[in-house]
Amino acid sequence: MAFTVAIDGPAAAGKGTISKAVAAHFGFAHLDTGLLYRATGRRTLDGTDPVTAAEQLLAADLEAGDLRTPDVAQAASRVAAIPEVRKALVDFQRAFARRDGGAVLDGRDIGTVICPDADVKLFVTATDDVRAERRLKELLGSGHDTDYDEVLADLRSRDARDSARAAAPLKPADDAVTLDTSTMDIDAAVAAAITIINETLT
Ligand code: DC
Repeated sequence: MAFTVAIDGPAAAGKGTISKAVAAHFGFAHLDTGLLYRATGRRTLDGTDPVTAAEQLLAADLEAGDLRTPDVAQAASRVAAIPEVRKALVDFQRAFARRDGGAVLDGRDIGTVICPDADVKLFVTATDDVRAERRLKELLGSGHDTDYDEVLADLRSRDARDSARAAAPLKPADDAVTLDTSTMDIDAAVAAAITIINETLT
């Protein structure tokens, strides 16, 4: 049986952590769709044309070690505004969503464009300050040299670009449940997501 959970939201709202934990809890597969755009954006930094990069994306590209850097995040947000890039990545995401045994996909347009018929749609948000603090901790923890103001500016510029683009902009689906994690720790956010999904499953 296919069961699809769509988790969208702005950068660093906790989508990735929640998606991973939810997938582990229910035994579903998980696809971080941001990685597809990051891997595409990463290849454009070497001068590859973005549409060619998206069309030729290989599983191995998703395992490249340097996809979590701020430069790659910005490149991802830029290529994500190109309709032909998005189009090249649709089939893979939809096939993943339909797999037997359930799937969780997280990104920006999962509930609106990739899986409009998803069984559960969550829109995960948090205040800019909370998101910047969380991302700063993550980046410093993985050895990046950055500071709060730089991280906040990166998140805000990506969110502005991701929300304003014409092709599949970042926005909640009409039938999405919004989960504001600003005052939640990770365990509380995961528990809230599991409760919402269980309401649909039972
Ligand atoms: O989720 P993330 O921060 O890893 O995503 C990186 C960029 O990729 C993000 O700024 C916008 C783009 N993206 C998108 O346009 N659609 C998705 N489904 C996922 C990511």
